[in-house]
Amino acid sequence: MRSHIRAIALIVIFIDLLFCQDHIHWGSLNNPLNGLTVSWHSDGLSDQIKWGYTTSYEEGTFSGIRRTDYSGYLYDYSFPTVNSSSTIHYCIQSDGVWTSDKTFQTSRDISSTSFSFIAGGDSRSNMDDWETSANQIATESTDFHLFLGDHVYSGTSTADWNMWYNSGNIFLSTNLIYHTGGNHEYGSIYLNQFVMPGNEKWYSFEFGNALFICLLSQVDYAAQHDWLVNELETTNKKWKIVFFHKPFFAVGGHADDMNAYRDTWWKAFDDNGVDVVLGGHVHYYLRSKPINLNVSGASAVAQYGDWAGQGRLQIIAGSYGAPLYAVGSDWFVEENLSTMNYTKFDINDNTLVMNAYNMSGALIDNVTINKEAEVSLPVILSFFSISQVHNTIELNWICESEIENMGFTIERRSVGEYGWLPLDSYLSNPHLEGQGSTTQGTPYEFIDRDVMIGETYEYRLRSVDYSGKINQLKSVSVTVVGRDQTQQPYSATISNPFPNPFNPATTISYYLPEQSTVKLTVFDILGQEVMMLQDDVRSPGNYKVQWNGTDQTGTPVSQGVYFCRFVAGVYTKTIKMVYLG
Ligand SMILES: [Fe+2]
Repeated sequence: MRSHIRAIALIVIFIDLLFCQDHIHWGSLNNPLNGLTVSWHSDGLSDQIKWGYTTSYEEGTFSGIRRTDYSGYLYDYSFPTVNSSSTIHYCIQSDGVWTSDKTFQTSRDISSTSFSFIAGGDSRSNMDDWETSANQIATESTDFHLFLGDHVYSGTSTADWNMWYNSGNIFLSTNLIYHTGGNHEYGSIYLNQFVMPGNEKWYSFEFGNALFICLLSQVDYAAQHDWLVNELETTNKKWKIVFFHKPFFAVGGHADDMNAYRDTWWKAFDDNGVDVVLGGHVHYYLRSKPINLNVSGASAVAQYGDWAGQGRLQIIAGSYGAPLYAVGSDWFVEENLSTMNYTKFDINDNTLVMNAYNMSGALIDNVTINKEAEVSLPVILSFFSISQVHNTIELNWICESEIENMGFTIERRSVGEYGWLPLDSYLSNPHLEGQGSTTQGTPYEFIDRDVMIGETYEYRLRSVDYSGKINQLKSVSVTVVGRDQTQQPYSATISNPFPNPFNPATTISYYLPEQSTVKLTVFDILGQEVMMLQDDVRSPGNYKVQWNGTDQTGTPVSQGVYFCRFVAGVYTKTIKMVYLG
């Protein structure tokens, strides 16, 4: 009888070994709650997972999606959007054998503007140190992790990957990690192991008021730059955090690895106010002084931040166990320590706190970036139009209000170009100077006379405030068509009203070179229509229209600023009038 029990026990152990699941790790196709995916290595042929928010596993039992691993199979299960700040209970089954209950803590709600994450990397080579590091960071409670590359010494060595999973098991099986590939492991096994957003090589995700951008510092620099610029220019997130393996600013070995991309990648960081740039590759801790190459290529700027004259915070958190490098100094070095380390970030609305720790959990460095609360937008547009007039492109816009507005800049680029060509600026053109602070509406215009027929241009309108902060106002594309394709009058003109300011009436004059549909509309500074002065088809010639300061019902309007929008075909122009009442 005893020998029977022993035999059964041995069979159970054998089955468990045969079908055991290991390498459990967590990724996401999107943000930490939407797209959350658990992956595990298994030799089983049809693994399943059951899960729920209690040990009843009330959400059900599901099949894992099987794919080939570097030795056997890797299973993935992508959860539907999961509850925030909750414990997921789950068990995995391989060919009839279920694991015991396992748990995973989900992140805070992704709309929370108060959250935390940990960044670090370079766990290759010394597995004991990696295990120490992994167990230390597993004691922290954060919403997610960024892994900065160089997971293993050899990305093609299955033994290296096995050791990495085994030594990091406690951390890896309980934390969501967004990875970037390093020079040591980037390749097919790396790309197969982790579930990440987008193409898994470079991608972005959002959490709270922050945008996270993962780049790959191994290949495809130009393609990534194009994508990066678009990501940065179209986000409305307050914090912009970029991570990739090889850093731009390092001392000692690898100091120049990314120099070739300063004019593209780093310029995009400076142009678009990236707050934090995270890297590994160099096995030490380094915090940079504020870096802004648009201001200086050889000295730090005054402070961290995303305004035009402020600088990026670059952190190298490059040692979860890889052999340590010697420290050094350079103009960009604020702190440089030869120690295993991890960096923990706490974002709380307008404040970002970075604490760096060694693997004993002792604080080794600390920095805080504050952003002023944006009480109100510096410039609010109530109207914007772009139109082709003869062989020029004309931009018209009206500001409903301006706060400490120095003026405007206009930039242009052709389709497919990365960089913006400065066309005009308040610095050289008085017509583009802002009004400072005002709540009175003001019309502005810019005419681009240097355009080619058939070309598609993208224009960017920005304002600059007294502190030098650049505000993106509008980005719009237009294709220049040939004369025979245009519908607009050859050279319609409208004159400024006279008198202006006026009481009781003012006269608006315009000229049509050919028959056109003409609309003359008066509206107030809120953009609300007050009076339609004209709306019909007119023959070529000169016209005068009078407005006596009344609305559509004949009631006198209140004293203030009004605009008259003139539309003839596709030609548009808006002029400002001041009614004295
Ligand atoms: Fe590296």
